[in-house]
Amino acid sequence: MKDHTERYSYQGVIDACSASPQRGRAFRAFCMAQLDQLDGFDWSGAYRLEGDTLVLDEYVGAETDHTRIPVGTGVCGTAIAEDRNQVIEDVRELKNYLACSLETRSEAVVLIRREGQVLGQIDIDGHQVGAFGPTEVALLEELAALIAERWDEAPQL
Ligand code: SME
Repeated sequence: MKDHTERYSYQGVIDACSASPQRGRAFRAFCMAQLDQLDGFDWSGAYRLEGDTLVLDEYVGAETDHTRIPVGTGVCGTAIAEDRNQVIEDVRELKNYLACSLETRSEAVVLIRREGQVLGQIDIDGHQVGAFGPTEVALLEELAALIAERWDEAPQL
């Protein structure tokens, strides 16, 4: 069970991430930890696109075998191949699906873009059917824009 010591809202996630001074992987880790606080977000991760492979970056949730996903494979790879976000109501209806956890029912993938280039994606899994819709995609798009702005590590002084 999650420890809801304070009430987490979608705007709260955006506010906390906007206020964070971090960049690069540290920032992405912070953002994924923020998403993990939300009800229905049972696995929250970021993948980096390296050539034609998605590489698992920072995540919060169960360990996954899918640390490297070829473009075109699974929900994550399909998002890159089709150059568009994915929202899956019930993953049991998919053939091209890579199971992270047997409990997962729904999934959303939102691309992280900077100046037209796809840098990677945010991937979230939920244990309930239909956990994610337009409101969650809007949240993830806003977060993806912040992540894109701060994609690189802070320069070493
Ligand atoms: N379900 C994804 C794989 C990533 S794991 O869920 C973390 C997919 O089908 O691409």
